[in-house]
Amino acid sequence: MTAHQLFQPFQLKSLRLKNRIVMAPMTRSFSPGGVPARNVADYYDRRAAGEVGLIILEGTVVNRPASSNDPDVPRFFGEQPLLGWKAVIDQVHADGGAMAPQLWHMGIVAPKNATWLPPAPFEGPSGYVAPGKIGGVAMSQQAIADTIRAFAEAAAQAKKLGFDAVEIHGAHGYLIDQFFWHQTNQRTDSYGGKTLAERTRFAVELIQAVRSATGPEFPICLRISQWKLQDYAAKLATTPDEMKAWLGPLVQAGVDIFHCSQRRFWDPEFPGSDLNFAGWAKKLTGKTSITVGSVGLTGDFIAAFGGEASTPSSLDELLRRFDRGDFDLVAVGRALLADADWAQKISEGRSSELRGFSKEALATLS
Ligand SMILES: Cc1cc2nc3c(=O)[nH]c(=O)nc-3n(C[C@H](O)[C@H](O)[C@H](O)COP(=O)(O)O)c2cc1C
Repeated sequence: MTAHQLFQPFQLKSLRLKNRIVMAPMTRSFSPGGVPARNVADYYDRRAAGEVGLIILEGTVVNRPASSNDPDVPRFFGEQPLLGWKAVIDQVHADGGAMAPQLWHMGIVAPKNATWLPPAPFEGPSGYVAPGKIGGVAMSQQAIADTIRAFAEAAAQAKKLGFDAVEIHGAHGYLIDQFFWHQTNQRTDSYGGKTLAERTRFAVELIQAVRSATGPEFPICLRISQWKLQDYAAKLATTPDEMKAWLGPLVQAGVDIFHCSQRRFWDPEFPGSDLNFAGWAKKLTGKTSITVGSVGLTGDFIAAFGGEASTPSSLDELLRRFDRGDFDLVAVGRALLADADWAQKISEGRSSELRGFSKEALATLS
């Protein structure tokens, strides 16, 4: 197994990657007070030195009072966190890596622990944390405008610090996805609506603001998912036409790359075709797409959180889809969390040295 096709360079606007391997964003909660320090820089730098083409930072929160439920999740605003990120990107660049922060607002979430709460109530489209369950406040139009500005400011900072692109976290049932999903968006103003296309308005304005803050050549990636932490079986789009109605306005707004989060990359998105989520996103929009989900591992990440260990698995099915042109880039989560040298081992065909993943790997930032 050499997977040579994954080691071809990739170029999009100002982004230049040495290969097609992307480190998936993974929250690690090792940034006390929201400030990434040397240990975080070293952790990402080991992946750059290990031949990862594009590193997507763990979700890093934007400047809103309740954008986070965890004081150890890094921030992407304020002097100390931004100084920390400057050190991270400089170190990664020195080792030939490329990097994008994942900009995040959690929206309405459960408190992570009993000892810390943000200084304001959690905010989302309609107050719902899950279907039928209130967990925070409905955002005013002013709060929406301020949140959009916070994303744009963070993206402008990312560009200024030297990051190679930005990823906007629009997936997994967090703020932007809460606007997409009818169960959590019951607004009757122009940020709500019966159709998914209508409920893209918040994301559309946010992407437009990020685009005008970063200029036409700076790549904007949007991470999206059908599944939510509140409901793994949820689907925003149940047909290709619905998916087109969802993604079309986002393309118009300025998205360059769709990062299509699914738990198992081999699962078909719709009946009648074996195309996966990233395959459909690329086919319907013509944009670059990133696939993800259990690449190189036997079990998916939700099962891993439940304690199930995963062992290394073949890349043959992934390569079959890649060779067919279904997607351009391949994101890898746990395999890279557990082993900074995963990409290098794949490129050199050292499959006997690959390791599996078990949740003990989460305990340290190695
Ligand atoms: C520890 C951990 C933290 C994660 N944190 C994030 C996150 O901050 N943002 C995000 O979009 N996805 C997050 N994810 C999902 C991953 O990006 C990825 O989609 C998922 O792990 C599937 O890829 P894998 O099977 O290769 O691990 C996280 C996953 C793990 C295991």
